[in-house]
Amino acid sequence: MRSYTFVAAAASCVVATSAASVDVPRQTSGTAGCGISHWFNGITQYHSLTSNGTSRSYSIHLPSNYSQDVPYPVVLGFHGSSSIGLFFEVDTGLSGSQYSANKIMVYPNGLGGAWAGANYSDATVPADLTFVSDLLTEIRANYCVDDSRIYATGMSIGGGFVDTIACSEVGSQFAAFAAGSGSFYTDNNGVGGCTPVKTPVPVLEIHGGADPDVNYNGGEGEGGIEPSIPDWLSWWAQRNNCPDSTKTVEDLFNGTGQHYSWTCNGVEGLLQHWKVDDMGHCWASTSLDFSCLVAGEGPGPISASSIVMAFFDKFTKA
Ligand SMILES: *[C@@H]1O[C@H](CO)[C@@H](O)[C@H](O)[C@H]1NC(C)=O
Ligand SMILES: *[C@@H]1O[C@H](CO)[C@@H](O)[C@H](O)[C@H]1NC(C)=O
Ligand SMILES: *[C@@H]1O[C@H](CO)[C@@H](O)[C@H](O)[C@H]1NC(C)=O
Ligand SMILES: *[C@@H]1O[C@H](CO)[C@@H](O)[C@H](O)[C@H]1NC(C)=O
Repeated sequence: MRSYTFVAAAASCVVATSAASVDVPRQTSGTAGCGISHWFNGITQYHSLTSNGTSRSYSIHLPSNYSQDVPYPVVLGFHGSSSIGLFFEVDTGLSGSQYSANKIMVYPNGLGGAWAGANYSDATVPADLTFVSDLLTEIRANYCVDDSRIYATGMSIGGGFVDTIACSEVGSQFAAFAAGSGSFYTDNNGVGGCTPVKTPVPVLEIHGGADPDVNYNGGEGEGGIEPSIPDWLSWWAQRNNCPDSTKTVEDLFNGTGQHYSWTCNGVEGLLQHWKVDDMGHCWASTSLDFSCLVAGEGPGPISASSIVMAFFDKFTKA
């Protein structure tokens, strides 16, 4: 879906800061950015950087009680196509304290409103991966980061790009990956089509069974050929050494959805998938969010933001 009008939503970047958080930062050694104080904590800030000669941009949201001495986990959130980081931030609510009271949220902006991988993308895969690497270098240098807890999530082509990262060398800088309604245009030629630097790689995917844009059963997408979600999951299961016998399938919502989970290399839930049968192409939410509204959907039975952040909290990079 490339036709979002995000400007109205983008105009209000203020996010709720209500419920208490459960994720307490671990006191590990932080990066070079520890000790640097920052202004406007709790308010989204915009920055640009030059990556391989090209001007790129991102926004960053620090916890409202950010401490320069606490090494924080970092979550990169990649927007869908025809969009920007700010829209993803507003749509997912991920800067809200219920999700990230103790995390640094970063929302990179893609060139031409998209990420590499689709046949309509402005950036090449190497260029976007270099941007991610340069971005992490800048974040580590300027903020207090727990280097063992860097995560990536994204929606649609942003979710697809999360997979591109996981399959690349830059992916070794991350502890876990989660995609919502992912369009997997790259690294999708079977088990060996993706070669992560190190396995196992914690991976989660959430998808609507009625997604008209990124079909659950794969096929021609807007930007190329997409694998079926079950195939894509089975490839990750094989890469991660998750025997088929460990796969559990839990029926949800009276059988109109399922939660799949695998035990990989002895780690329960290292690979997970949530399917909502009647959901279309949007960021799953229990309240009305903009991407679901655009897709003609009301509130659904699960919150992708809750599921993704809880998944990340389980994993620390070795
Ligand atoms: C900031 O607030 C959160 C949520 O109340 C709390 O868990 C955390 O310990 C606080 N951080 C600092 C550095 O005080
Ligand atoms: C960096 O820029 C040069 C010159 O434009 C280009 O040839 C090269 O492919 C780029 N490399 C990456 C990784 O984007
Ligand atoms: C992109 O790929 C899709 C799916 O194969 C195809 O329908 C479309 O024509 C392609 N567009 C371009 C610009 O190549
Ligand atoms: C599940 O289906 C039963 C029988 O149709 C119905 O009574 C019940 O309300 C449904 N529960 C939910 C959570 O939809």
